[in-house]
This record gives sequence, structure tokens and C-alpha cells, in this order.
Amino acid sequence: MIKVINVVGARPNFMKVAPIVEAMKRREREFTPLVVHTGQHYDAAMSDAFFNDLDLPQPDVYLGVGSASHAAQTARVMEQFEPVVIREKPDWVLVVGDVNSTLACALVCVKLGVKVAHVEAGLRSRDRTMPEEINRLLTDQIADLLFTPSADANENLVAEGIPVERIRLVGNVMIDSLYKHLERSRQSRIKDALDLNEKRYAVLTLHRPSNVDDPLTFGRILDALEKISEQLPIVFPVHPRTRKTIAELGFAERVKRIPGLRLVEPLGYFDFLNLYSDAKLVLTDSGGIQEETSVLGVPCITLRENTERPITVTIGTNTIAGTDTDKIVAAAFAALKQKTRPKVTIPLWDGHAAERILAELS
Ligand code: UD1
Repeated sequence: MIKVINVVGARPNFMKVAPIVEAMKRREREFTPLVVHTGQHYDAAMSDAFFNDLDLPQPDVYLGVGSASHAAQTARVMEQFEPVVIREKPDWVLVVGDVNSTLACALVCVKLGVKVAHVEAGLRSRDRTMPEEINRLLTDQIADLLFTPSADANENLVAEGIPVERIRLVGNVMIDSLYKHLERSRQSRIKDALDLNEKRYAVLTLHRPSNVDDPLTFGRILDALEKISEQLPIVFPVHPRTRKTIAELGFAERVKRIPGLRLVEPLGYFDFLNLYSDAKLVLTDSGGIQEETSVLGVPCITLRENTERPITVTIGTNTIAGTDTDKIVAAAFAALKQKTRPKVTIPLWDGHAAERILAELS
């Protein structure tokens, strides 16, 4: 019997861990999965909603670390996670993605001599001002097994001197969740609730500190949204960090005055999938959404200067527009002119990545 602690911490972790835990439960004679939630994200809309939508079992252990500075949050996760690993004596600990909880838990394991595997390894933006880039680099250096989503990630790891024996190309687990829930998400009534009768609308997400904490950058993005929203409504589920900075930077009135920009609370997995899968275009600074839109052929405009997911640009539907007003508007207008959606096929993003991960652990 292989005992595995699966770590979740923040919103983008849940859809990556859910298919892995489900696959382990299907093979219950071989695997004993435990779910440990660090509590990095704790609002119902940022956490609980995803457990329900994704059929993710309630956490076996909840660490409740909450929000804090990077150092304090990382340290608290480590302090709380260490006794859990000592008590449970797992054969493997699985960490996913690039959030603070990912690095913190990997570091605990390696110091205790417990084997740790990193899912979504090898992605690199080459922008070290991004906290996630530091989390990726360090987690990949110390993890025993690195599960990559695409061949470019393998190349990055090899270039950093990581032995090939530690690397396994398994595909994209987040896309396992997308394919599993796409049909069910059609039942969501979110478009009715938002009065979006036609399929002519855009979706926006924005939460990177480099975008929302800086008034100049945020201001340039708002200028672009003003122009785009003259063409079609933009639905904007607002991340808690962004809601805070809109108030702190004095942007509340300005945001309210943009016609067609519709601020809503963060959405659950089904509602959000339903919404972006039918959107004319998506504007985002998220990482995962670049991948999800690519698979569905929905045009994605990334409001960052770089991406750690280049395959979404070369094979997918992603355009890196940065944060220059004119560039964002030009990219959006070009996307609106598209009549049909491309059919995108990315190798190993096929809904079976979790099974390939289990095959490597057994
Ligand atoms: C974190 C991840 C980021 C990921 C994002 C997805 C790191 C370094 N960053 O960023 O990679 O893309 O999650 O959402 O791990 N807050 C709440 N309620 C919550 C969670 C957060 O109000 O449930 C607020 C708090 O004010 C907090 C702020 O959001 O201080 C930032 O939260 P934090 O987890 O530190 O980083 P995110 O910006 O969410």
C-alpha cells in the first residue's frame, strides 16, 4: 500500500489535485491518499466551492495558515506541515503548481528525508520578480520526482542540470479536470444570472501583484478595458487581493464608471468554466487560464510580459499582450474578428495525466 499526502493550498491547486486523488481512490488497494489543505486560501469562494464542484474529498488535515507576508506564510506552512509528515509517515508527498504552499511543503519533506513529487514541474517564465518563479525553481531543485506537462518543461529542467532520471513527461492534470467537468458545467445558470443572453461577452481575471498593486500598470489596463468594453460586456470575477487594491489605490469610482465592466464575486469551478468556455475572448494574468482557454480554442490575451506556458502561444490560443494599453486593445480587437475557433490539440493534454502520474508512483 502506497500512502500519499496530497497538498493543496490555494485556488489553482484544487483542480490539479482532484483528478489525482480520484485516480488513487479508484485504485484503493494500491493507494491510500490523504489530502492536506494548508489554508493559504480560506474564503468560501476561493476554497470550499472547489471541493464541492470537483468532488474533492474534504481535507484530512487543515493547517489554517491564512494570509501573511511571503516569509511568514511560507514559514507557517512549514511549521504546521512538519508534524503532519512526521505523524503520517507517507511514502510520497505530492505538491502541485507554484504557490507558497508548494515550496513550503516540498522543503519540509526533503529535510525529513520523505520523498516528494512535484506536479507541473519545469515551467519557467524567466522572470524572477514573480514569486511563483522562485517557488518553481526551488521546488524543482529539491523534489525527487518531477512531473512535467509539456516537452519545453523537460528542456528547462535539463538545462538547469536536473538529471533526466528524475523527470517524467505526463501531461497536464488540470486538463483532466476540465474534460471531466465540461459537460456538467453546461448546467450552470451563470449566464442567466448575469443577464448575458448572447454569447458575445469577454471574461477578465486579474490578481498578479505586478498588475494590481501598481497604480500605473493597473491604470493602463483600465484604459484598455474602457475601450474594449465599448465593443462587448466584460465579466470580471474579482480576486480578494484585487478587490482590496481597487479600494486602496482609489480606483473604485473609475472602475464603476467603465460601461460594460461587470464586477462579480469569485466564481466556483463550474460557473467559471461555463462562462469562459462560451466567451468571445478572455483577458487574464493567470497561468492556468492560458491553458484552459487554449484547449477549448477560446482566444486568450495574457496581461503579462511573459509566460511560463509557451506552448499555449505556439500551439494554443494565447497572445502575450503585456500591460501596454494599445497592445491589449489591438490584441482584443484582433480576437473579436475571428469567426471560428481553432481546434487545438496539445500532446498529452488528454484527460489521462493523473493515471500516468500514478503509474510512476507505484
Ligand atoms: C496566490 C498564489 C498565486 C496564485 C493565486 C491564485 C503565491 C505566491 N501566490 O496568490 O500564484 O496565482 O494564489 O489565486 O502563492 N485573500 C483573501 N481570501 C483568501 C485568500 C487570499 O482575502 O481566501 C487575500 C488576502 O488579503 C491576502 C491576499 O488575498 O493577503 C493574497 O493572498 P495570497 O495567498 O498571499 O496570494 P494570492 O495573491 O492569492
